[in-house]
Amino acid sequence: MWEAEAGRDLFADGAGNHVTGQRRPVSADLAVEDLDIERGLRPQTLEDYCGQSRVKENLRVLIDAASSRNEPLDHVLFSGPPGLGKTTLAAVVANEMGGTLHTTSGPAITRPVELSATLTNLGEGDVLFIDEIHRLSRNVEEILYSAMEDFFLDIIMGDGPGARSMRFEIPPFTLVGATTRTGLLTGPLRDRFGISYRLDYYTVEELTQIVLRSAGILGVDIDLPGAQEVASRSRGTPRLANRLLKRVRDYAQVRAQGTVTWQVAAEALAFFEIDELGLDWMDTKILRALAETFRGRAVGLSTLASAVGEDPSTIEEVYEPFLLQQGLMVRTPQGRQATLAAFEHLSVAPPVS
Ligand SMILES: Nc1ncnc2c1ncn2[C@@H]1O[C@H](COP(=O)(O)OP(=O)(O)O)[C@@H](O)[C@H]1O
Ligand SMILES: [Mg+2]
Repeated sequence: MWEAEAGRDLFADGAGNHVTGQRRPVSADLAVEDLDIERGLRPQTLEDYCGQSRVKENLRVLIDAASSRNEPLDHVLFSGPPGLGKTTLAAVVANEMGGTLHTTSGPAITRPVELSATLTNLGEGDVLFIDEIHRLSRNVEEILYSAMEDFFLDIIMGDGPGARSMRFEIPPFTLVGATTRTGLLTGPLRDRFGISYRLDYYTVEELTQIVLRSAGILGVDIDLPGAQEVASRSRGTPRLANRLLKRVRDYAQVRAQGTVTWQVAAEALAFFEIDELGLDWMDTKILRALAETFRGRAVGLSTLASAVGEDPSTIEEVYEPFLLQQGLMVRTPQGRQATLAAFEHLSVAPPVS
């Protein structure tokens, strides 16, 4: 399972350890060095945030309206696959609203008292970001209902016949939730978010902008065709675009003159086993299992997971959404299936029906 900072690290194994050798499995965990770099690359304002124009325009209006009324922004929920900019947007919201950002995550809050403490520590207009909000336990989640709706907390003191309920006011704040799985959010929690956005995969043009921006910050010498090549193999995901940029920079430093041209980018990405669609080793392994091992038949998630040796929820949350979006696999009531496009992409003859 992944923690607050989910994503794929090209050079880490399932435990977040650096892997050396021929095969470099991608995993759901993020290496610490990457976290530091990610922080530096994070846009701070809506203006700096590339792409997601509908979300941006919408937020601009809502933020300006709330600010001019001197009220906190309504609670916001961001959903979508890992690496598309949910955590970044939480920080942008806090920054644009001028409130302090407090960050936690669903799995990190184990007891109601921990959430109560966090809530009572908020200042007026602060932003509380709860990552992986779908993983809050039910009794913790219940604390949030009155906090979100009316800015108070009911806390039971003591137990047995002597127990009594105490009511605490909390300053008006904005809760920003992020989830990779909206489907797992309970109805009552979902209903308490006044604003909800689903982030989409980015276009190659948007990712090119992100690559150029990051290259500027990291001091990487890259030309436009080089940036476009990195962008087009980034699975529509800014986090991967940044990560590929760093790998390509390393390659350029050692194998080329340091400048990332189209040629250098293409060579480097082939070297790191990223194909033209941006599929990496694990994506390809999943598709090959569906197309070759199961010959295009529908298979259940757990069968697929054991065939490729990956955690079922990682397949469902990290790998599968992009393969579905690209039309390389489908989910039917019977299970997961490779499409004709997948057979073509892998140059495998489809089964004769
Ligand atoms: N719209 C964007 N513009 C520029 N960079 C972005 C954007 N969205 C994400 N990023 C970059 O991608 C990285 C991952 O984003 P993050 O917000 O952590 O994704 P998520 O929380 O959805 O998994 C960030 O470090 C940031 O540098
Ligand atoms: Mg995040």
